[in-house]
This record gives sequence, C-alpha cells and structure tokens, in this order.
Amino acid sequence: MTKFYLDGNFAPVRDETTAYDLPVEGAIPDALEGRYLRNGPNPTAGDPGHWFFGEGMLHGVELRGGRATWYRNRYVRTESFEAGRRLVGDNGMLDLEVTLANTHVVAHGGRILALVENTAPTEVTPGLDTVGRFDYGGRLTTAMTAHPKLCPVSGELHFFGYGVFPPLLTYHRADAAGNLVQSEEISVPGPTMLHDFAITEHSVVFMDLPVVCDPSLLMAKTMPYRWSDDYGARLGIMPRGGGNADVRWVDVEPCYVFHVLNASEPQPGHLEIDVARYPHLWRESQDAFEPARLHRWTVDVAAGTVKEEALDDRAVEFPRVDERRVGRPARFGYAVETRPGPAGFAMEAVLVKYDLKAGTTEEHRFGPGRVPGEGVFVPASDDAGEDDGYVLAYVYDAATDSSSLVILDAGAFAATPVATVALPQRVPFGFHGSWVPDAVL
Ligand SMILES: [Fe+2]
Repeated sequence: MTKFYLDGNFAPVRDETTAYDLPVEGAIPDALEGRYLRNGPNPTAGDPGHWFFGEGMLHGVELRGGRATWYRNRYVRTESFEAGRRLVGDNGMLDLEVTLANTHVVAHGGRILALVENTAPTEVTPGLDTVGRFDYGGRLTTAMTAHPKLCPVSGELHFFGYGVFPPLLTYHRADAAGNLVQSEEISVPGPTMLHDFAITEHSVVFMDLPVVCDPSLLMAKTMPYRWSDDYGARLGIMPRGGGNADVRWVDVEPCYVFHVLNASEPQPGHLEIDVARYPHLWRESQDAFEPARLHRWTVDVAAGTVKEEALDDRAVEFPRVDERRVGRPARFGYAVETRPGPAGFAMEAVLVKYDLKAGTTEEHRFGPGRVPGEGVFVPASDDAGEDDGYVLAYVYDAATDSSSLVILDAGAFAATPVATVALPQRVPFGFHGSWVPDAVL
C-alpha cells in the first residue's frame, strides 16, 4: 500500500519550473509587493521513510504591481543534496549530517533562510537559488529550530537548537542585523523533540514534552522519537537574553505541541500561551496521533502553576498569527482544520480564523476537494490594523490535480477570495512559509 506521504497531493513533483505572468482571477491588491515562499518535503526518489524526510523544495510566487510576476519551485540544494546523500543512508542508518532544509523559510537580517530543525540554516536568494549553509559566520555550533521567533519591536531573532547528543538544548539570540550575539546551553533531563517555542514581551518559553529520542530507532527508517509515559512534561520560562540559571520550569499535563499560535505576557510573570495541543503523539507508532486542538496555557511563574483550557474543539494545525503581534497580545489567529472528506474526496480542509478576544471563529471553505495549506497573514500596510490585510495560502484542487495561490481578505474571511492565481503545476502539501516583502531584503 502506498504510504500516505507518497500519495495524492502529498506525492512529490518532479520538475523545477519557472513561469511568468500567471493567470489571475480577481484583483491582486497593490499593497502586496514581495513574494510568498513556502517550504515542504519533496523526496527526490523512492520512499524516504517518513513524511518529514523528503528533501526540501521551495514554492514561491512573486506579486508586484497587481500582477503575479512569477512562480518558481526549487529544491534547496544543500551540500548533502548535491552529493546525493539521503537522510536514511544505504546502510539503513539515519545520516544526521544530511541537511533536508524542508520545514520553513523565513527572512531575517536581509537573508532568506530555509530551515530544518536538525541542522544549520541554508540561505537562498529571493529567486529561490541556493546560496549555501548559513551558520552565522561559524558562531552557530548547534542545529537551529525551523520556528525561530522574530520580535516585531526589537527585530531580534530568538531561537534554539536541539540534538540527540549534548548539548541537548541551546538558546540563541541574533540581533536585528542578523549577527548571533548570544548562545546559552539549557539543561533538560533528556533528548526530546523540541519543534517550536514561544516568546513574549519579556520571556522565552521552551516546551520539554514527552516525545523522546529512542536510539534503537536510528536504524528503523523513521523518526527516532517516540512517546514516553515516564518523561513528564514541562515548560521552561526564561527572561529574554537570560541563561540556564534563570529558567523556571513548570509542569504541564503530558501532551505534544508541534506549533505555537502565539504567546504574550500581559503582566510580567503571567503568560498566556496558545498552542495546537496533541493529547499524545507517536505512542503506538511513528504515524500514530490523535488530532491537535487549540489550547491555552495560562502560567503564573512565581506560583509555578499552569491552567490549561481548550479554546476550540476543531482538529487544527499550522496556527499562525499576524507577525507584528508575535509575543504580544493578538486578537486574531489562523489555522487549518482537517476533516474527513465528503463523498469522493479523501479529505476536506478549511481555513479557520480565530477571534481570540470575542471567542468566535469564522471559516473559509474552498469547496469540495479543494484543500488549503497554512495561511499566512500579510498586513495591508505597515501600520494597518491587526485585521486589515490578507491571508495567503496554496490551495490544491483534487478534481483538476492543480494548485493555486489564494488571497483572502482577512476582514471578510468567508467571502469570495480577493484573487486566485493559477499555478503551472500542483504544489504538494507541505509545511510552513512566509511573506517576504521587498523591504526586508
Ligand atoms: Fe513546524
């Protein structure tokens, strides 16, 4: 039986394509001057062993002057890619030096970085050509998470690296110009999978959750992590720019979180952290999980307490917030809800818009067989209100086996899209992306 990640629109595309002046239905807002880039796994051949193990491919669309000026898709041509090395080598072992660069793409310090959590970033050009490994001039000596957090006020990039061998967890901070200015080893009890973290106005938050490295899986052609009923679960709250001695660990109910929607600290020492929470992950196998639902952790650091509450009963992933609100109180968030499909379709997905203040939601339904990926909010201008802008997503249409870039009006979320850009080939389901305006390059 074909593995799910090689089937339908999970299957890789074979061609690296360039197309200019794409057909547009509707009108692309003049405010959108830049490029929407998204990363995802696209195995070069065969079965890589896990959805997360495909070589990274970027799909980008540049918008300019109300036109969709180009579409490109390009492999991230890391050294290991060029050498033809696969993450699972011919001997069946995981090759931990292989750089897949398949998870996210972000801009910081004038550079565009393709990220995967087990190695250093790979810099790419705005046209998606690979520049090469970027390790902050040799200062970055650990891996880098695919989910760094860019402070919208200071311009600093807060991130971490984790590994299966010591140092297990290291906090890093880069200044607005893209210089690595701080690295601090953080003590954790074991080698867990730390996919994302959070920042607030004052703090960073590590999530040490019970998906733990199992060395016996290093030769099993799958993720070398599994659920532990014994490890426990804790959040580490540390002042921004702090070190190991400053971390306050507070226990939470065991769970797993790939992705944080956002976090804030309305009063110092009192944090609200909104996450897509799995009740467990990879307990029975490396594909086993129950869906994630949006939860809020309310943390009192001094008291060492955490209140946990479900905010919604939908099964959601890929939560995103207005990047100008990262670490600050945000009213609106976006996520992808996945449901079993209607007759004739394997799955249905809708984009959900959360109004976290009012406690309400809106949905954008794309129609039968049309499945969106992560939705990325782009403000209409630098000083536009939180809801004044657009949500961009690639949408796959199963009936025509094709994809488009859909632009929604965030303030009229359920309405007909503002614009739909037809793409010359389908975009496989992938992971994360960013809007990269000219101004940040
Ligand atoms: Fe992720």
